[in-house]
Amino acid sequence: MVNVSFEQLKKIRDFVRLKIGIFIDDYKLTTIYRRKIVDLIQRHGFKDFETFYSTVTGGRSPELLQELYNTMTVNETYFFREKEQFEILVRDIIPELDSKKSSFESINILSAPCSTGEEVYTIAIYLMEHGLVNPSRKFMILGIDVDSDAVKQAEEGFYTEKSMRGVPGYIKEKYFVKQGGGYQVIPQLRQAVSFKVVNVLDRYEMRRLGRFDVIFSRNMLIYFEERLRNETIATFYSILKPEGYLFLGHAERMPPTITLFKERSMGKAIVYQGYLFCPPVSPEEFERFLKPLKEGDTLL
Ligand SMILES: C[S@@+](CC[C@H](N)C(=O)[O-])C[C@H]1O[C@@H](n2cnc3c(N)ncnc32)[C@H](O)[C@@H]1O
Repeated sequence: MVNVSFEQLKKIRDFVRLKIGIFIDDYKLTTIYRRKIVDLIQRHGFKDFETFYSTVTGGRSPELLQELYNTMTVNETYFFREKEQFEILVRDIIPELDSKKSSFESINILSAPCSTGEEVYTIAIYLMEHGLVNPSRKFMILGIDVDSDAVKQAEEGFYTEKSMRGVPGYIKEKYFVKQGGGYQVIPQLRQAVSFKVVNVLDRYEMRRLGRFDVIFSRNMLIYFEERLRNETIATFYSILKPEGYLFLGHAERMPPTITLFKERSMGKAIVYQGYLFCPPVSPEEFERFLKPLKEGDTLL
């Protein structure tokens, strides 16, 4: 068995934090993650930690790097999670967007991060259930996540009972087919959404996704430290259409230092709406948050 010391675990933790933002505390690092990292090293046939570390950090194996990310992420999610936000989406936000847009413009919704896809399919189900998906209005619903295994599962659209715990019976019958030990989303639902592996810290890739009317970013920023959290929120602002909406998770709040959004209380949820004109920012803020980007630019 390969031995990995606490100092070596910390090296991996710091590298992962730098690349994808997630911070892992000492306790989790030495319990859950030690096992996962040792397993990864051994699965790839490395005889010692340092060879593994230099390979994964030296850009010599993108596949190994992706596997490291997949190992370090926390993918907990389920259908209809924090569902008040979806109710506000279909009751208040979509009708407002619909009335402002011409008939050939689409309404674009981003789930960042989407994990294994439950959030993305929930959005599509809400839109369909409220009769909003019809020939007169196109939707683009995209889910992104840095974990390629999670994105693959999202694309497959097959779920176990654990993910389905909040789904009402009639929705299960209408949008899923029971198969073996789980549920397969029906083709119409699968075709209504798309998924992509993207790191939210990669500002260039983020801006290549296009512009969105609504972004859901729930239960990821809590794993980021303050600087990366702020910068990621600024990236979201830069890919939102003017006066677009941002939903955060229930345990997440807009940092008071970010002045790009106004807080709006809608029903039981809080939603952040981007200002039409970004308030004046300092040259440093412009440099970090809003400057046009070239390929290879990240938050780092
Ligand atoms: C707890 S899940 C949240 C999923 C869903 N939004 C929800 O609230 O149920 C957190 C997800 O964030 C993803 N994640 C972490 N860092 C990321 C990054 N830098 N870019 C994109 N996704 C990231 C993880 O892979 C994980 O799937």
